[in-house]
Amino acid sequence: MSKKELLHTQKMPKHVAIIMDGNGRWAKQKGRLRVFGHENGTKSVREITETCVELNIENLTLYAFSTENWKRPKIEVQTLMRLLISSLKNEIKTLQDNDIRLQTIGNTDELPRKVQRELQDVISQTKGNKKMTLTLALSYGSRDEIINTIKQISIKVKNNIISPELIDESVINEHLYTRNLPDVDLLIRTSGEQRISNFLLWQIAYAELFFTEVLWPDFTKEDLYEAILSYQKRERRFGKTSEQLKA
Ligand code: IPE
Ligand code: IPE
Ligand code: MG
Repeated sequence: MSKKELLHTQKMPKHVAIIMDGNGRWAKQKGRLRVFGHENGTKSVREITETCVELNIENLTLYAFSTENWKRPKIEVQTLMRLLISSLKNEIKTLQDNDIRLQTIGNTDELPRKVQRELQDVISQTKGNKKMTLTLALSYGSRDEIINTIKQISIKVKNNIISPELIDESVINEHLYTRNLPDVDLLIRTSGEQRISNFLLWQIAYAELFFTEVLWPDFTKEDLYEAILSYQKRERRFGKTSEQLKA
């Protein structure tokens, strides 16, 4: 049986998040510049996005550019921004054809004006789409998100809109950039690195983690099936005992 046939359609993760890593190393292995890796990474984005729709996964969140990535050489940052604009222009049809709604999380005010305009355009064109929410993490850092959340809640406390005793998980959730998304069920990181790199720290509290050596431009739907199969084999206990879950 192929990996796809082994998947349980009733046990699909509701929210898959991916740290798309390894573009630079992929290019280097081929004796090419890092930008060549980023260009080829966009093909994986399309394949994985379409596959998630096919699998009825409701939410896909992709880490595309971190708050720390601003520290990269200016030329690389410019290339990534240029690629983002061209991908948005080229993929609007893919999004419409697959009934995908695009949104972003992160400090998008920091992005170049041209990128912001293109994003706004695609977000408004796809806002009525229902099959899947594709969230791009852009200029995203989880600590930045948490700081922003604390600031917003503090202002509400100061203005007597929220009383401090009533702050609970749901209040925090409602003030995060991810306010309309469920917790992450499955977090995938490519390229062999086994770290989180400031991605969705709060939201992955009980996510299943899947690390693979495959570099992002080589990551195919078969690799995604493998990650989901691994996820489906695990027992998610959320603190309880195995016996309790079976009872
Ligand atoms: C991921 O690939 C893309 C971004 C972080 C924008 P990298 O560019 O980090 O590739 P490596 O990790 O250097 O191979
Ligand atoms: C994480 O990858 C960020 C994205 C994939 C966008 P990095 O390549 O920036 O992470 P570190 O610096 O190796 O942890
Ligand atoms: Mg990297």
